[in-house]
Amino acid sequence: MKLFSISFLCATFSAALQISVESSGGNSSIFQYGLMLEDLNYGGEGGLYAELIQNRAFQGSSFYPRSLVAWTPINGSVLSLQNLSQPLSSALPTSMNVATGIGNGIVGFANSGYWGIDVKAQKYTGSFYVKGSYTGAFTVSLQSNLTNEAFASTQINSNSTPNQWVQHEFTLTPEKDAPNVNNTFAITFESSDVQGGSLDFNLISLFPPTWNNRPNGLRPDLVQALSDLKPKFLRFPGGSDIEGLVQGQEWKWNETIGPLKDRPGRPNCWGYEETGGLGLIELLLLTVDLDLDPILAVEDGHWLNNEVASQADLESHINSTLDQLEFITGATSTPYGALRASLGYSSPWKIKYIEIGNEDNIYGGLPSYISYRFQAYYDSIGSKYPDITVMASTVELVLPAKAVGDYHQYSNPDGLVGQFNYFDQNGTKNTALNGEIAAKFANGLTWGDTAQIFPWWIGAVSEAVFYLGMERNGDKIIGSAYAPLFQNMNSWSWSPDLLQFTADPGDTVRSTSWHVIQLFASYEITHTLPQTESFGPLYYVSGLNQNTGTHIFKAAVYNSTGDYPVSVTFDGVEKGTSATLTYLVANDPYAYNAAGQPEVVQTKNSQIIASEDGEFAFTLPNLSVAVLETGH
Ligand SMILES: *[C@@H]1O[C@H](CO)[C@@H](O)[C@H](O)[C@H]1NC(C)=O
Ligand SMILES: *[C@@H]1O[C@H](CO)[C@@H](O)[C@H](O)[C@H]1NC(C)=O
Ligand SMILES: *[C@@H]1O[C@H](CO)[C@@H](O)[C@H](O)[C@H]1NC(C)=O
Ligand SMILES: *[C@@H]1O[C@H](CO)[C@@H](O)[C@H](O)[C@H]1NC(C)=O
Ligand SMILES: *[C@@H]1O[C@H](CO)[C@@H](O)[C@H](O)[C@H]1NC(C)=O
Ligand SMILES: *[C@@H]1O[C@H](CO)[C@@H](O)[C@H](O)[C@H]1NC(C)=O
Ligand SMILES: *[C@@H]1O[C@H](CO)[C@@H](O)[C@H](O)[C@H]1NC(C)=O
Ligand SMILES: *[C@@H]1O[C@H](CO)[C@@H](O)[C@H](O)[C@H]1NC(C)=O
Ligand SMILES: *[C@@H]1O[C@H](CO)[C@@H](O)[C@H](O)[C@H]1NC(C)=O
Ligand SMILES: *[C@@H]1O[C@H](CO)[C@@H](O)[C@H](O)[C@H]1NC(C)=O
Repeated sequence: MKLFSISFLCATFSAALQISVESSGGNSSIFQYGLMLEDLNYGGEGGLYAELIQNRAFQGSSFYPRSLVAWTPINGSVLSLQNLSQPLSSALPTSMNVATGIGNGIVGFANSGYWGIDVKAQKYTGSFYVKGSYTGAFTVSLQSNLTNEAFASTQINSNSTPNQWVQHEFTLTPEKDAPNVNNTFAITFESSDVQGGSLDFNLISLFPPTWNNRPNGLRPDLVQALSDLKPKFLRFPGGSDIEGLVQGQEWKWNETIGPLKDRPGRPNCWGYEETGGLGLIELLLLTVDLDLDPILAVEDGHWLNNEVASQADLESHINSTLDQLEFITGATSTPYGALRASLGYSSPWKIKYIEIGNEDNIYGGLPSYISYRFQAYYDSIGSKYPDITVMASTVELVLPAKAVGDYHQYSNPDGLVGQFNYFDQNGTKNTALNGEIAAKFANGLTWGDTAQIFPWWIGAVSEAVFYLGMERNGDKIIGSAYAPLFQNMNSWSWSPDLLQFTADPGDTVRSTSWHVIQLFASYEITHTLPQTESFGPLYYVSGLNQNTGTHIFKAAVYNSTGDYPVSVTFDGVEKGTSATLTYLVANDPYAYNAAGQPEVVQTKNSQIIASEDGEFAFTLPNLSVAVLETGH
C-alpha cells in the first residue's frame, strides 16, 4: 500500500467509515426472508383466495350469524335463509330460498363480491347448487352495478329437481374489461317455469383465472407480489387465528380439506367467518408453487380468552396434530395418507418445521406451555417424526437443544434500531425464527397508541436495521417474516401491512417495507465474514454468497446528519474489481405507498470499481437501505 494514496484518501474521505472485511472466519448463515400468512383484514378470503362471491354458502356461527350479506334480490324476488330438512351437506346446513314473488317474468339475485368484482376479458369458472322444480334455463352474468351493462352472460339448462341438490357448472368470458369493479354476479330465471313458487340455492362460486391455474386457487396479482419478494419459507395458517377466540374455534385442519361442500367454515379471531375454502391443501400448494419451506403452525390447546387445555384434555389436540402430519407427509398406506391420496394428492409433502401454537407467552398461555403443553407436543412429534424440527411459539422458556424459538418484534423505528444488537447482546441459546416483525408505531408511540396505517419509509429503514442485526447472527436466526401480509382497503382491523389491495388488481400496492425486504432477499449471504464494527448511524453486515462466489455488504443508514461516506474493502478482492451498489431512498421519512400515487421508494444503481487499495468508496443518504455486491 502506497503512503501517498492513504493521505490522498484521508483528505478526500476524511469522514468515511473504513470497513475492512476479512476473508476467513465468520459463520455459515441459514438466515432467510419468508412469509407469515394468516387470514385477517380479509386478506385470505376476500384477498389471496380468488373466490369472487362473498358469503357463498351462508356460513356463520354464534359469533358471526348467518346472513344474506352481499346478496340482493332482482326483480322483486324474495330472498330468505332456510335450514332445509335436506340440506346440501351437514357442513352447509343453511341455504338461500329465492321466492319468485308476485311478478311473472325474470327474477333472481345478485352478489356484490368482496366490495366489487374485477371483470376482465378472461375466463371465469363457476358453479352453484339448486334444489326445486324448474324447467327453464338459468342466466348467469357479470354486470355493471352502475349501468346494468352485462359484460358476460350465459344460459345453463336447468337439471334441477325438488328431491335433491344439483350442481350446475358454467363459464363466463367477457369480451372486454369493465371500467371499474362496481360489478355484480347475477343468476336469473324465468319465474313462470318454477313450480312451487321458489328455488333453493347454495354454494354459489365464481373464480377468475388463478395462479398456476389451480382450481379453488389464489389471486394472481397478490401471489405475484409474494413471489417477487423472493421468499424462502411460509409460516401458516397463523398467527392468533389458529388459536381461536374460545375453545372449539381453533383452526381445525380436517375441516378445511376435501370438497367445498364439506367445509363448514369457522369464526376466525379477526371479526369474520372463514368459509374453509383457503384450506390446508391450498396453502401447501402455495408452498409448492413458490418453492417455500413450510413452517406449519398448529393449535395447541390455547385460546385467546386465556383458556388452556388441561393436561388430560391435551391428548386429543396432539392426536389431531399427529393426524395432520400423517395427512401431509404419510405414505398412502396410512389412514390419513390414504385420505390425502383420495383427494388427488398421492405424493406426500415435506414439512421442515412445525410450530407449536402462537405467542403462547401471552393470553395466559405461558405457565401451562412451560409445564406441560410444549413438551408433550415436542415428545409426541419427535418420536414419530424425528426429521421435523419443532418450533416453540415464544422464547420465554428453556427449550430442548434441538427445538427452535420464535421471537416477534413490533415496535417503533427508534425501538427497532435500538434492538440492532438484540441477538449480539442477549444471544440466543436455541436457534430461532423471527416469525413476525413490523415497525408498527411512529417514534414516541407504543402499544395502546394509534398504529401506522401503512408501512412508511423511516419504519421500513428501521426494519432494515433490525434485519441486519439478524443477518449478522445468521448462524442462529433462521429467518424473518413481516406481519401481517395483507390489508384489504375495504375492511381491515390491523395495520400496517405489507401489501394493500382492493377487488381491483390495479389498486395493489407494494409497500415501502416490501421494497426493503425485496432488496435484502435478492442478495443472500450464505456465510458471514468478520468486519470492522462501529455501528450507528450506519448498520451493516458483510459476507459471501458461496453459490455465486460474490462478496455482499448490506447496510442501512438511520439518523445521520447528512450523506454518510462509506469505504469497504474485502480482503482478497483486488483493485479494479467492479461491484454493483443498489440503494433505496425516499424523499420524506413519512412517505408511504398508496394506490394511484407515484412510487415513493427510489432505487439507485451504480457500478463502483475498487481503487488501488481495493477500496469501494461511496456515500449513502440519511435513511437509506443498501446492498453492495462484487462482480461474479
Ligand atoms: C460467528 O458466530 C459467533 C458465535 O455465535 C460470533 O461470536 C461471531 O461474532 C460470529 N461471526 C460473524 C462474522 O458473524
Ligand atoms: C340454521 O342452522 C344453523 C346451524 O345449526 C343455526 O345456527 C341457525 O340459527 C339456523 N337458521 C335458521 C334460519 O333456522
Ligand atoms: C326484470 O324483468 C324484466 C321483465 O321480465 C326483464 O326484462 C329484465 O331484464 C329483468 N331484470 C333483470 C336485472 O334481469
Ligand atoms: C364502486 O366500488 C368502490 C369499491 O367498492 C366503491 O368505493 C365506490 O363507492 C363504488 N362506486 C359507486 C358509484 O358505487
Ligand atoms: C351496488 O350498488 C348498491 C346500491 O348502491 C351498493 O349497496 C352495492 O355495494 C354496490 N355493489 C357493488 C359491487 O358496487
Ligand atoms: C390419541 O391417540 C392414541 C394413539 O392412537 C390413542 O391411544 C388415544 O386414545 C388417543 N387419545 C384421544 C384423547 O383421542
Ligand atoms: C376435526 O378434528 C377435530 C379435532 O380432532 C374434531 O373435533 C372434529 O370433529 C373433526 N371434524 C370432522 C368434520 O371430522
Ligand atoms: C434518532 O435521533 C433522535 C433525535 O435526535 C433521537 O431522539 C433518537 O434516539 C435517535 N434514534 C436512534 C435509534 O439513534
Ligand atoms: C436484551 O434482552 C432484554 C430483556 O428481554 C431487553 O430488555 C434488551 O433490550 C435486550 N437487549 C437489546 C440490545 O435489545
Ligand atoms: C435523518 O433522518 C432523521 C429521521 O427523519 C431526522 O431526524 C434527521 O434530522 C435526518 N438528518 C438529516 C440531516 O436530514
